[in-house]
Amino acid sequence: MQLNPEFSLFVGRFHPLLVHLPIGLLSFAMVLHLVQWKKKSARLTDALTILWLLAAVSGGLSILTGWLLSSGGGYESQTLERHRNGGILVAVLSMVVFITYLIQGKSQRSAFPILRLVGIVSAIGSMILTGHWGGALTHGGAYLTEYSPFAASDSTAAAGSTARQIRDLDSAYLFEDVVMPILQAKCVSCHSEEKKKGEYLLTSHAAILQGGKSGAGVVPGNLATSELYRRISLPEDHKEFMPTDGKTPLTDEQKAILEWWIETGAHQRQRVTAFVPNAKRRDELVRFFGLDQQAVAGHVAPAPDPAAIDALLQNGYRVNLLTQTGNLLEVKFNGKGSSKPDLSVLTAVKQQLVWLQLENCQLEDADLQALAPLTSLFKLNLNRNPITEKGCSFLPQLTKLEYLNLYGTQVTEAGLPLLTSLPSLKKLYLWETKVDQAKIDSSGIPPKLELVLALESQAPGS
Ligand code: HEC
Repeated sequence: MQLNPEFSLFVGRFHPLLVHLPIGLLSFAMVLHLVQWKKKSARLTDALTILWLLAAVSGGLSILTGWLLSSGGGYESQTLERHRNGGILVAVLSMVVFITYLIQGKSQRSAFPILRLVGIVSAIGSMILTGHWGGALTHGGAYLTEYSPFAASDSTAAAGSTARQIRDLDSAYLFEDVVMPILQAKCVSCHSEEKKKGEYLLTSHAAILQGGKSGAGVVPGNLATSELYRRISLPEDHKEFMPTDGKTPLTDEQKAILEWWIETGAHQRQRVTAFVPNAKRRDELVRFFGLDQQAVAGHVAPAPDPAAIDALLQNGYRVNLLTQTGNLLEVKFNGKGSSKPDLSVLTAVKQQLVWLQLENCQLEDADLQALAPLTSLFKLNLNRNPITEKGCSFLPQLTKLEYLNLYGTQVTEAGLPLLTSLPSLKKLYLWETKVDQAKIDSSGIPPKLELVLALESQAPGS
């Protein structure tokens, strides 16, 4: 049967909801059976007949939706098989029990009493196991026992499966907080104790280095001989490319991070900042941890006017919704040095607009006047526009601005007093500008503000 995959998934996602029907019905049936054990009653028999029929039917629907859901792939296949077979067994056994009631009809005596008893007990038992396997599919096998006081505490697999929430870059470990979560998301489904494809385990530092069938997985400091790196850098249609089976490949950013980890020695316990990341790598990591989104997390805005979004798109802007609920917008225009955006259309989304990128758009000082009303901005990129500090005189109303990129503009040190007085500013990019480092009056620069004056900038203190 050929179904539209999106529609399959749409219906399939009702599975986790629907499975509670047979679970509830069978649990209720169990209670009635216990009552009837003490005292036979024709009414209870009627109720049980209906309950077992409903359990069989809702079990059937659960199987159907479960099958559609699994068509999306990404599940550990052995557990999936057990869960599926268990589910089918529950539905079939429920049908068998229902049939024994159907044959019994109005008679007080049970037809096939042994068959019925076995059916009831095994249906309930299968239901419990099926539920457990279903949980293992969605949460991983160790979900139930992970926080048990008896669980092994030094399990690196568990450390990798629960990515820590990172609040600032300096506290993050490169292997544990960056490399492991990437492998966990993209590789471990096939390279765990349960599967171990290619004899390769990707659940601990030692195993990752050790490798599988074909020898060393990662050779610290050596990309060329690291099998892991070779597999992720092949062309996607190569038969040895990882991940296989059309699973979502690593993003360029994730690849770059793994590459960096191997090059810097594939250490297990080194902080991200120990490797002195350059500005580009820092930005990658900041995005990886969503730190840039955390800055705007507390900011809420009403839904943007669809007509205003249309106007942006028609004027050549790219628009991204940043958070699911906050209605916040990232808007980009890349003029590629030859076209200039119409900045007046931005005012209509001024409450939602938190990130604005206007790189290389031929903007001049007078154009920046249009930015003055955009008071929700946290981040503004004006790099590579022919602007000077005169244009910056339109920015002081941007009291939320934390990040301002003026690289490649004509701004001089005369603009600094004005820029450094922006109350929220944390980072100001000024490389390849007319700012003369020798003439900067550092006493006027607030301690929380970092001036980035060269491309290969390093974090303060690292
Ligand atoms: C869909 C299942 C699947 C996923 C997901 C997957 N792999 Fe594999 N992997 C395999 C299979 C199957 C083999 C064995 C066949 C082969 O060598 O190509 C294998 C083999 C390997 C090998 C070679 C081991 C050896 O020594 O021969 C490496 C390295 C590897 N995988 C790395 C990765 C990495 C890194 C990821 C995540 C980006 C990943 N795999 C994701 C299925 C998978």
